[in-house]
Amino acid sequence: MSAPAITAVRDASHYSTAPARPITIALLGLGRIGSAVARRAREDRASPQPLRVVGALVRDVTMARPGAEEIPRTTDVAELFARRPDVVVEVLGDIEAARTLIRGALERRVPVVTANKALMARHGEELLGLAIRTGTAFRYEASVLAGVPFLGTFSARPLASRVTALSGILNGTTNFVLSQMRDTGAGLVETTLDAQRRGFAEPDPSQDISGNDAAHKLAILAWHFGLGSIAPEAIETIGIDGIDTDDVTAADQFAGVIRPVARIEQSGEGTTAFVGPAFLPRTDRLAQVDGVENALVLETDAGRLFFSGPGAGPIPTATTILDDVIEATRGGQPHAPVNRRGRVPVGPPATSWFLRLTARRLPPGDEIVGFLGSYGIWSHRTLTRGQGIWLLTYPCTRDRVEMALCALSAATPCDGYAIRALVEH
Ligand SMILES: NC(=O)c1ccc[n+]([C@@H]2O[C@H](COP(=O)([O-])OP(=O)(O)OC[C@H]3O[C@@H](n4cnc5c(N)ncnc54)[C@H](OP(=O)(O)O)[C@@H]3O)[C@@H](O)[C@H]2O)c1
Repeated sequence: MSAPAITAVRDASHYSTAPARPITIALLGLGRIGSAVARRAREDRASPQPLRVVGALVRDVTMARPGAEEIPRTTDVAELFARRPDVVVEVLGDIEAARTLIRGALERRVPVVTANKALMARHGEELLGLAIRTGTAFRYEASVLAGVPFLGTFSARPLASRVTALSGILNGTTNFVLSQMRDTGAGLVETTLDAQRRGFAEPDPSQDISGNDAAHKLAILAWHFGLGSIAPEAIETIGIDGIDTDDVTAADQFAGVIRPVARIEQSGEGTTAFVGPAFLPRTDRLAQVDGVENALVLETDAGRLFFSGPGAGPIPTATTILDDVIEATRGGQPHAPVNRRGRVPVGPPATSWFLRLTARRLPPGDEIVGFLGSYGIWSHRTLTRGQGIWLLTYPCTRDRVEMALCALSAATPCDGYAIRALVEH
């Protein structure tokens, strides 16, 4: 008789003859992510304990749930909690309903896992405080870079988490759109429709295009890494909808790319942050992150750390959520920020700028450079193409750029547009 095949080391039943007790999960929401969690829980063989979804809270119990039909559905949260789940997984999307339901679970000392970035950006610290007071696990790994597990790692490593600045591509939809504009020459509307066709953008992509989704994630990262508590509305947030294909071509001529960037920095001058399309030299790590990929650079006193991977999608998100579920049942601490600073004022940074000026009859480039110079805006690269001129400037404030563009369009009819340029001088 041949020897039995060696089974996967992660199969816990290998070590014990007693069948492991399943971890029971109550889902708040059974949409795209909730259904993926249910499917993955049913099919996963890597978990040390079986994972069993005991029910889901929904708005409409009659609606078909492809791939998750077997999950009992209810509109009554008391009925769901009466099934005594080991962990509650919140994948509702709604902010206020999610907040109330999570508070209810934590007050009963039932561990909670959430993927809800809008909720965590606004009420994350409040919920974390409740989790700490009640000694209940509360995890939110999938709320930022959903398929890249890194938040939990840093909660347990206070020295590595001394972050002074972080920048990232926190939204896959807009990174896909800008990458496609460069690769295909198609416009913003066309590439956004393409992203929707491929399932990379929501039917309503406005939260992504406007930058609000990335601002939520930046606010979560800011308090998680101890840079301070910041309302998402306080962050300068610019959408990618002002970018056209000529900008993408001009960026290429300047040996760079336009990426949807989010950045926060703490220095002697205070805390500055922004979210928006930004010019990056091709050599920048973030410039090399293409398509729907997300990435994050953490600047710590021990060096720069770089993470990248899928930032959304049912399978990566469900995988991260279920790992959080397993962690939460191990009596793990809530994800906790390492060095909280409380509410901090945040302003826009002074950076270099990528400027575009267009007009039927633009003055010669050196006249424009001279005019901007009289406002203290000095350019080191210029490109004239068709009816436009593009400039890369040395660092200055947004106020100064806006004042100069306003004065220029009063002096000579033209349209000005400015995005940040993250260029080291
Ligand atoms: N999509 C991604 O790739 C991704 C990645 C990371 C994080 N997330 C986060 O995951 C969460 C869920 O996203 P999703 O794409 O799965 O959303 P979704 O498809 O819209 O699903 C939401 C689910 O929640 C239920 N629901 C909403 N409000 C409710 C309420 N007040 N009471 C009871 N049930 C309610 C809905 O019930 P009905 O079905 O009956 O309407 C639906 O089943 C969001 O917070 C999102 O930000 C998503």
